[in-house]
Amino acid sequence: MKKRLGYGLIFLSALIIVIIVGGRLFFWANKDVYGNMPEYVLLYAENQTDDYPTTMGARKFADLVYVRSGGRIKIEVKCDAELGSEMQVIEQLKFGGVSFARVSLSQLAEFEPEMNILQLPYLYKDSEHMWRVLDGEIGDDFLKKTSDIGIVGLSWYDAGARNFYSTLPIRKLEDLEGLNIRVQESDMMADMVSALLANPVKIVYSDVYSAIEQGIVDCAENNWPSYDAMKHYDVARFYTVDEHTRVPELQICSKVIWDKLDEKDQQIILDCAKESSLYERKLWQESEKSSRENAEKNGVTVIELSESEKARFRNAMSTVYEKYCGNQMELINEISEY
Ligand code: GCU
Repeated sequence: MKKRLGYGLIFLSALIIVIIVGGRLFFWANKDVYGNMPEYVLLYAENQTDDYPTTMGARKFADLVYVRSGGRIKIEVKCDAELGSEMQVIEQLKFGGVSFARVSLSQLAEFEPEMNILQLPYLYKDSEHMWRVLDGEIGDDFLKKTSDIGIVGLSWYDAGARNFYSTLPIRKLEDLEGLNIRVQESDMMADMVSALLANPVKIVYSDVYSAIEQGIVDCAENNWPSYDAMKHYDVARFYTVDEHTRVPELQICSKVIWDKLDEKDQQIILDCAKESSLYERKLWQESEKSSRENAEKNGVTVIELSESEKARFRNAMSTVYEKYCGNQMELINEISEY
């Protein structure tokens, strides 16, 4: 009896030691360089790959926030759509399941249709024109529009120009006719493809490679870095530079989380988001160049549309403008002239 009591006491003491030591180890493992447990550990969703410019921008953002908050706010960036597709992530942001994300404007526009204006086909003359708009008053106003859907817009990210790529060469407008073309989960993108007399097929980003490989679609459209990062050049060997859209991207925060932060922390987050945007834009320029080079190295046929052919593509967009401009024609004219 005494012996059993002795074993019991030894077991109990060992258990207490394990709990104390384990607790200490857990504390040390989670302690940051500032010697504190972070007050907030917040998730950031990104659907691109680990070394993609927007993911690197997100990490820059997280690092800046961590340092400026003295280690109180820790942001964990989850890439490769680990937290879900962009549409799923936006839903989660609405109730605070995910705190931050970088998303394509075309997906946010499904929740706030007015945002479609900023991704109208052939709206911007070039990248500089788009950035004048986004960096100006119009860009600020559009960042605020996300508040209607329980989301705080923090900053703009670059995503360059989108182009068609296909299993067949597209050299003129007629080559698109009847093709099944993958589009984002976006009504406006689907209407744009229909206006070109092709059939839009909405497919989530991570499934595009297999959709082309299996012949579900013949064609897709995206910027150079996405074509490269997702290795779409393996299955769609012809890339036509038609630059039909420039779809800006946004860093966003859940309003549920935002409202829990005090004004000082909100300001830190806003400042760091804007700084990370400048960093991402620089990386973007480099990445556009290197990803095109990589595709060419892999034997992709690059087709540059002539200006007159581009004009035919642009003219085919009139029905899209009619449908999505509503009573905003004045604003659209202002953007075109900006
Ligand atoms: C771009 C964008 C992604 C988006 C993708 C798409 O790559 O950066 O956020 O998901 O386009 O075509 O779906």
